[in-house]
Amino acid sequence: MNASTLEHTVEDFLDRVRSIETDQGINRGSLDAIGELAAGLAQHKDLFDKERFPPPGDGGRSALYLLNEDDDHGYAMYLVCTQPGNGAPPHDHTTWAVIVGFEGDEENVLWERIDDGSAPGRAEIRETGRVVLREGDSIAFGPDDIHSIKTVSEGSTRHIHLYGKCFDQQTERVFFNAEKGPVKNMPSGLLPIDVSRRVL
Ligand SMILES: [Fe+2]
Repeated sequence: MNASTLEHTVEDFLDRVRSIETDQGINRGSLDAIGELAAGLAQHKDLFDKERFPPPGDGGRSALYLLNEDDDHGYAMYLVCTQPGNGAPPHDHTTWAVIVGFEGDEENVLWERIDDGSAPGRAEIRETGRVVLREGDSIAFGPDDIHSIKTVSEGSTRHIHLYGKCFDQQTERVFFNAEKGPVKNMPSGLLPIDVSRRVL
């Protein structure tokens, strides 16, 4: 990736991701390829600087900056900063997702659903693994994959998230309670997203 500006870097990255989807569709193999490509973005992390994309201010848990969203709400790319100790309980995204670390450490706990889905509003999940996402690491999820996240570093995280569709369109996503089992839909449209620094 030879692009030297933020705009060109984002555009070039997304063009390459689109090529992968066109050639291979979205499956575990192509998501791994997109994840590998995304990991390369970390070489350009200085373009996504704190002056342009500041971490959350006093009392704020996280800052979400929209970098790109296609007209059909696809290829939604965000820069996300989350303060230490904060994160999200187990959830899915109802679309594919690729996350790459620029700064800070984010623990991802991976879960699988083990009930048959027959009881409305209830679910049983179990942990299948843990991975800490650090600078230059990437991780990819399919639409039904479940993960929970927590910033475990002393400083806030600075990560790039790319989704098959934007948060506003992830209306059927589910948050799980690992101890008690109930599930609830939580539309991502409730997330405070800063669109003022959009790149493309
Ligand atoms: Fe997530």
